[in-house]
Amino acid sequence: MKPTPINEEIQLDPKRYIVSETDELGTITFCNDYFVEISGYSKEELMGKPHNIIRHPDMPKVVFKLLWEFISQGKNINVVIKNLAKDGRYYWVFTEFESRRDTDTGKIIGYTASRKTVSKHVTEIISDLYAKLLEIEKEEGIEASEEYLKSFLKSKGDNVEFQNLMEEIHKFY
Ligand SMILES: Cc1cc2nc3c(=O)[nH]c(=O)nc-3n(C[C@H](O)[C@H](O)[C@H](O)COP(=O)(O)O)c2cc1C
Repeated sequence: MKPTPINEEIQLDPKRYIVSETDELGTITFCNDYFVEISGYSKEELMGKPHNIIRHPDMPKVVFKLLWEFISQGKNINVVIKNLAKDGRYYWVFTEFESRRDTDTGKIIGYTASRKTVSKHVTEIISDLYAKLLEIEKEEGIEASEEYLKSFLKSKGDNVEFQNLMEEIHKFY
C-alpha cells in the first residue's frame, strides 16, 4: 500500500548524495545508506522493487515519460523530482540520470541516479509547472500535458529543452 502524502518536507543534507541503481526496467538493484535513511524504507524493502515505490502523486506522468525516452536512448538527463517517503513526507531532489552499458555489447544494462538537494527558488518554479501539468493530465490526458510543456519550454527560448530546464531556470527567472 502506498503511503498517504502529508504536507511536510524532509530537509536534506546538502553534502550528501542519494544514490540508486536499477536494471534496464527500473527495478532497484542498489541504494546507498542515505537513500535508505531519507526514504524511510529498509534496504530489504527497496531491493528488487520498481523505482516508482517512492513516486509522489504530485509528479506529472509526462516528466517520467520524457525521462525514460532520454535514458533508454543512453542520453544523460537531470530532472527535479518530488519524492514520497514511507511516512508520507516529501523531499525534492535534483537527480542526475546516467545509463550503464555492457562493455562488450554496448547494450544498456541499467541506470544510475544520483540526487542532491535543490534550491527553494527552483522547487517553487518547478512545483508550479508540475501542478499545471498534472491538472492538464487529469483533465485532458498526457498528450495535452506534453504539448503544454513543449510550448512552455519554447516560450523560454529556442535552446530550452527539457533536459537542460534546470540550468535554464536560473537564467530566466
Ligand atoms: C535509476 C532510476 C531512478 C529513478 N528514480 C526515481 C525517483 O527518485 N523517483 C521517482 O518517482 N521515479 C524514479 N524513477 C522513475 C520510475 O522508474 C518510474 O518511471 C516513475 O516513478 C513513474 O512511475 P510509473 O511509471 O509507475 O508511473 C527512476 C528510474 C530510474 C531508471
